[in-house]
Amino acid sequence: MSKSDVLLGLQWGDEGKGKIVDVLTPDYDIIARFQGGPNAGHTLEFNGIKHVLHTIPSGIFHPTALNIVGNGVVIDPIIFKKEIDALVKMGVDVKAKLLISKRAHLILPTHRLLDAASEASKGKNKIGSTLKGIGPTYMDKTGRNGLRIGDIERHDFKEKYDALVEKHKQLLSFHNYEYNLLEFEPAWFESIEMIKQMQLIESEHYLNTAMASGKKVLAEGAQGSLLDIDFGSYPFVTSSNTVCSGACSGLGIPPNKIGRVIGIFKAYCTRVGSGPFPTELEDEVGEKIRQIGREFGSTTGRPRRTGWLDIPALKYAIMINGVTELMMMKADVLSDFDTLKVCTHYNYNGKVIDYLPYDIDPKYVTPIYEEVKGWGCDLTQLTEKEQMPKELLSYVKYIENAVKTPITIVSIGPDRKQTIKR
Ligand code: GDP
Ligand code: IMO
Ligand code: MG
Repeated sequence: MSKSDVLLGLQWGDEGKGKIVDVLTPDYDIIARFQGGPNAGHTLEFNGIKHVLHTIPSGIFHPTALNIVGNGVVIDPIIFKKEIDALVKMGVDVKAKLLISKRAHLILPTHRLLDAASEASKGKNKIGSTLKGIGPTYMDKTGRNGLRIGDIERHDFKEKYDALVEKHKQLLSFHNYEYNLLEFEPAWFESIEMIKQMQLIESEHYLNTAMASGKKVLAEGAQGSLLDIDFGSYPFVTSSNTVCSGACSGLGIPPNKIGRVIGIFKAYCTRVGSGPFPTELEDEVGEKIRQIGREFGSTTGRPRRTGWLDIPALKYAIMINGVTELMMMKADVLSDFDTLKVCTHYNYNGKVIDYLPYDIDPKYVTPIYEEVKGWGCDLTQLTEKEQMPKELLSYVKYIENAVKTPITIVSIGPDRKQTIKR
């Protein structure tokens, strides 16, 4: 019996999960997404190819690994079909390597419209949603109205669809939101027909049987812990449990069958969308990180907000997830700085604290920084850990010491090969 490892983002998403899943896939038989949907954008770079995945697990380019879209994921058939078509064009045998849980929920065109209507009605308080319909789809899931992948094989699927759309139309008229469903429905139903040709499975049985026979599973998280519906900076969060327990509920893996918990973080912080961000840099330093790190959304193209590494937030994420090892991404992006800052504590309502409190609104929380010496040299050509400049090694050890967790990989560029194992 083998256990399932979990890989997840510890910040506000876009930590580089896709890259690392791709790097680690040769060690696994199955890669499984457990939550989120096309709000995710996971970037992989190898052999001069750059590819962004939204719903499909990041093990899909590996010749043998199977990829599972788990029950906790929400699927937009139109985006899903586009992703599959693009992979097929690249020669990937998606039909053989991709399995989809019958329990995964469907994003309807009206869910996307409701997402847009809800954001519009919030005005300046908007979440900054990716507008992919994520929130409304999870609302229908917990409200027990949702449509699932398994439903597409039912004789009464169209009636169920029509009934839900009728509900959505009432909500949209409440929002006075104008739309033309005919723009989306033909492509949606065409994509449903394509999904019917795929391998639709009861993934909880599949995964548990696979683990029982010794197969190695890696659960791939989407978003990040600070966007978690329970533990993130609510209400500026996504609508799923992005933390480790999400892998249990989103795949049917029992908690005592979780093995390594791999936490991915950037050597600094970014956030896209609204909400508090204690270490945000709204100055030329922040702009420099954005430009060097090419910090623009993989899904929406929006500029990402940037800031220094936040240790109290990182410790919080490590605690909630039970992280057993860390992987630090994008170290190369900080090469241009002589001095780096790291937030070690917060001033919280006049008191110095070292943990992430309930409310991180800038009204209550101000970061307290320590300065650390930068390495000031290009890292992108390094291949061995022995070549790491001593200041980079000090930065790594400084973080390890602060969060009491080992850093096993330092990433020094977007390519698969730009990965230093320690
Ligand atoms: P994910 O959502 O966690 O998979 O991350 P994204 O793909 O949205 O964003 C990470 C971005 O950083 C992508 O453009 C990656 O190609 C890129 N990236 C990943 N690791 C590194 C790294 O170590 N250095 C640099 N410069 N870019 C990286
Ligand atoms: P990956 O998997 C970064 C953010 C949105 C918004 C909030 C809610 O690539 O790391 P939603 O569309 O989920 O209702 O948006 O969450 N967000 C992400 N930010 N990376 C992501 O995914 C994200 N998915 C959602 O910007 O602030
Ligand atoms: Mg991303």
